[in-house]
Amino acid sequence: MEFIEQVKQKARSNKKRIVLPEGLEERTLRAADIILSEGLAELTLIGNPTLLHEKAALLGLKNINKAIVVDPENHDKLDAYTDLMVQIRKNKGLTKEDALVQIKNPLCLAVMMIKAGDADGEVAGADNSTGDVLRPAFQFVKTAPGISVVSGAFIMILKNKAFGHNGMMVFADCAVHPNPTAEELAEIAVATGRTTQAIAGFEPRIAMLSFSTKGSAKHEMVDKVVKATALAQAMAPDLKIEGELQSDAAIIPEIGLKKAPGSEIAGQANVLVFPTLETGNIAYKLVQRMADAEAIGPILQGMAAPINDLSRGCSVSDIVNLVAITAIQAGGN
Ligand code: ACO
Repeated sequence: MEFIEQVKQKARSNKKRIVLPEGLEERTLRAADIILSEGLAELTLIGNPTLLHEKAALLGLKNINKAIVVDPENHDKLDAYTDLMVQIRKNKGLTKEDALVQIKNPLCLAVMMIKAGDADGEVAGADNSTGDVLRPAFQFVKTAPGISVVSGAFIMILKNKAFGHNGMMVFADCAVHPNPTAEELAEIAVATGRTTQAIAGFEPRIAMLSFSTKGSAKHEMVDKVVKATALAQAMAPDLKIEGELQSDAAIIPEIGLKKAPGSEIAGQANVLVFPTLETGNIAYKLVQRMADAEAIGPILQGMAAPINDLSRGCSVSDIVNLVAITAIQAGGN
């Protein structure tokens, strides 16, 4: 069975409540119709209910009436959500007055639904930048216990099945944290290992990438990856993590053997952890375009509740797929 079909089957078997704050956005509405007809999740759509139902009718969508629709201008949780916002951020100077303004923003309303236990996860970003989706999530939902940094992983499905796990690989961080410290990079490696186990469904062999393999180059940027590797190994002794490795040494068996003899990971890596966001973001986009790979994500990892960000160039099926993945993250299965 295709990977995404397996994901959908898991989502269907443990239905979660996902909020889509861009309810009036056409691709989101079309995706919502498919999600509801396939029973992948229960949905809350944020948007003016009259406009939303008119748009759904115009598009010929038959399932939207199965969703809860919440009007950001007029709903009965205004007081409860804004009180909670003030409680969470009073030490940052947030007043009730400020909260009443912020809660009008559907992206803020969505995270407060999660925080208050009215939704299990969120998918947004078809119409908003990554920063605008993530900021309210960072501020109110925050990171999971023991995690200080949120990052974004992509499941890459390659045409060449010789790479990774039968053509599947996981890349991170490709979406969130521009310049991690060694400590943060170690956290990103461990989080990516857990995402690989939970979502991609295979045992991770994690390569910490650099422009050096096992001391072949000397530079402070290499030192960061060496330190991050040691920290990650200590944080998660159950995971197979190795570095520093160049990308060819990580994925090509003969080169791995030559540059890092005796390594369990070199030449066999199925998870690539990039030293910075620049390298991760550039790499996943090049592989996606030049190798015609499918890039599923970004799957945000490290947040206290599953919140995922779409690219503004996303398709309807990208939204459906990310909702299914978010539902699995919410179910912890
Ligand atoms: N993990 C956890 N918390 C974070 C993170 C993180 N990675 N980054 C920021 N925060 C928290 C801060 O601690 C702060 O919390 P506080 O207000 O409680 O103190 C809050 O978020 C806001 O922090 P700022 O530093 O003001 O955050 P800012 O809004 O400047 O930046 C952002 C955060 C938007 C995610 C920024 O790092 C960014 O722009 N990253 C790049 C995103 C991007 O453009 N990715 C590429 C496109 S995606 C793609 O191609 C798939």
